[in-house]
Amino acid sequence: MDVIVRIQQTVDFIRSRFNAQPTIGVVLGSGLGGFIDYIDIEHEIPYEEVPHFPISTVEGHKGKLIFGKLGGKQLVVMAGRFHFYEGYSPADIVFPIRVMKKLGVENLFLSNAAGGVNTTFKVGDLMIIHDHISMSIVNPLIGKNIAELGPRFPDMSEPYSKKMISLGRKVADKLGFVVRQGVYYGVTGPTFETRAEYKMISIMGADAVGMSTVQEVIIAVHCGMTVFAVSVITDIGIREEENVITHDEVLEAANLAAPKLTSMFKEMIVSL
Ligand code: HPA
Repeated sequence: MDVIVRIQQTVDFIRSRFNAQPTIGVVLGSGLGGFIDYIDIEHEIPYEEVPHFPISTVEGHKGKLIFGKLGGKQLVVMAGRFHFYEGYSPADIVFPIRVMKKLGVENLFLSNAAGGVNTTFKVGDLMIIHDHISMSIVNPLIGKNIAELGPRFPDMSEPYSKKMISLGRKVADKLGFVVRQGVYYGVTGPTFETRAEYKMISIMGADAVGMSTVQEVIIAVHCGMTVFAVSVITDIGIREEENVITHDEVLEAANLAAPKLTSMFKEMIVSL
């Protein structure tokens, strides 16, 4: 079935449940679900009930779409996202972003947990993403372009809005924490990187590496959204000691840094 038809069917289904008119979309990364505490929740739909959303292959993976208000604005929040390493196609991973656009979302906020390769970074730092490197992921726009969704060859000179980056920096300043800024290198996962890979990623000009976000940003830019994205640095890939990186360590660090990230998103949304 045509993706345009599938998007419309999904939007129609959502609107049959709840008259959603969001202008702001938020994607919450691993360990960052606390953001939803700030929202006046009006409606929730588990992913498994949403037509054409990917069927979860992962045990305990309970994502949902949340609709509600924050600072007088209507939001749609993805609590949980789809990753390429779980076995979904790139088209499936980005489908919810296209649905958000069709629902009326203009500003997209994305978050993720990422490994630091900039040696000045510390675990728990927030990094505003001002650019990315997409060469190690599968581009979700490969295939026939649907002109109704966006151009064949999208410009990528400013995927992350400069205005939003400057607002994010101001808000962090006001909230009293240091925020880093840098380049995010997208990988497929699910392996963490080898020492040689972390080193390569750093030499290639990135500051952090992670397994999400880039495909979603490509689609958001393709369909003309304003994008703001932040990584929580959960581990440092380039390091002297002989320590391994575990998923538990990543989740723990994300949980610890989550209040900074969620309060930053909240303040930004309120002041939009
Ligand atoms: N590499 C890739 N993805 C990640 C990492 C990492 O070191 N930490 C959290 N997500």
